[in-house]
Amino acid sequence: MTPLLDSALDGSDPFEGTKYRSLSILGKGGMGAAHVVEHRLLGTQFVCKVMRGRHRNNAAVADRMRVEAQSLARLVHPNIVKVFDFDFTQDGRPFIVMERLEGHTLGHELRTRGELPTREAIDIVSQLLSALSAAHVLGIVHRDVKLENLFLQRTAHAGPVLKVLDFGVAKIMEGISDAAPEPPQVPTRAGAIVGTPRFLSPEAAQGKAVDQRADVYSASVVLYMLLCGRGPWDEASSHASVFSAQANKAPTPPSRYARKVISSDLESIVLTAMSKEPEERFQSAKAFEAALMTVAERLGDSPQLPESAKLTLQSKQPMPIGGAASPGTLRISDELETKTAIPFAKHQLTIGAGAVAKRIVTFAISAALSALATWWCLATIFRR
Ligand SMILES: Nc1ncnc2c1ncn2[C@@H]1O[C@H](COP(=O)(O)OP(=O)(O)OP(=O)(O)O)[C@@H](O)[C@H]1O
Ligand SMILES: [Mg+2]
Repeated sequence: MTPLLDSALDGSDPFEGTKYRSLSILGKGGMGAAHVVEHRLLGTQFVCKVMRGRHRNNAAVADRMRVEAQSLARLVHPNIVKVFDFDFTQDGRPFIVMERLEGHTLGHELRTRGELPTREAIDIVSQLLSALSAAHVLGIVHRDVKLENLFLQRTAHAGPVLKVLDFGVAKIMEGISDAAPEPPQVPTRAGAIVGTPRFLSPEAAQGKAVDQRADVYSASVVLYMLLCGRGPWDEASSHASVFSAQANKAPTPPSRYARKVISSDLESIVLTAMSKEPEERFQSAKAFEAALMTVAERLGDSPQLPESAKLTLQSKQPMPIGGAASPGTLRISDELETKTAIPFAKHQLTIGAGAVAKRIVTFAISAALSALATWWCLATIFRR
């Protein structure tokens, strides 16, 4: 993660007078700015998301941050960022204090590496779906599931862990759980479009009411992008054409874009989760996750990359999202992927290449033997 600014904001630290001191800004969004901060007495670092100054007098935005903080506080889950505190700056702006994660967003990962091996993509999306299930049980719909709100936390011994960030536009569905936070005082205007165009469910893109199945749709777009290195609507050049594609256009099957083998069952899972009608999707994040687990089980353990392969991956040129690499370039990860996908290829093709070669050799030997036998018979007959 690259801080935008390395000093404490030209002396204008929004946390002046609080327990925290700003060290740098990580990013600025519509409602807030994320800062790396240090606890003045303990010296420990956190990330604080503070409401932006231009919303200072906007009670509705402040209340949204209260909903975000309370949602995160209730969602204690290994794949959701932890919240520690909620407070106000001296000029009355709310801020949320969270654990500081080391790593980078999934957007960064995809821009750097291009499409991911199938098993890795499934593992990441399963973690996402597990986090979303926990939120949905409480009646919390995230509504902005996208690559930049998903963080890959580096861990010392195991692989990266996915952490869901940014419940800034979460919807609280009433009557689902008593443990849910109080819904925002100013509800979202009817017909308003909330979320990020390329990840929006068709119902959200049309300003209709959404429930947990909208998150299922957005998670399927994330999976599509991880498998293909591009999104389903990358050709669309305006928000209007993205909205229209979300609502009306059938997505191109991922197997047409991915450079690795996508099994037919994985493809049908992605396309089911991406159905236009919420009733035709997986009805819950849990059901989507269970379907992915059946594919993961058949794929077996994640492939262990040899050291040489790791070096190739690290030194690879970044591939821009939306631009497929030239079909002629085969990466080592693709080779491993193809091997991993053999169990699926088997039932589609019935016999593999090795078996075909064996059969050709057997056929050639038996043809030669029968030609020899025929020649011997004819020679014996004509000698007589
Ligand atoms: N706890 C964290 N640890 C490390 N980096 C973080 C953390 N929280 C946020 N970030 C970084 O800051 C960026 C912005 O954070 P976040 O998505 O929560 O806010 P936002 O998009 O600016 O918010 P909003 O759109 O609600 O105003 C993230 O994409 C991520 O790179
Ligand atoms: Mg965000």
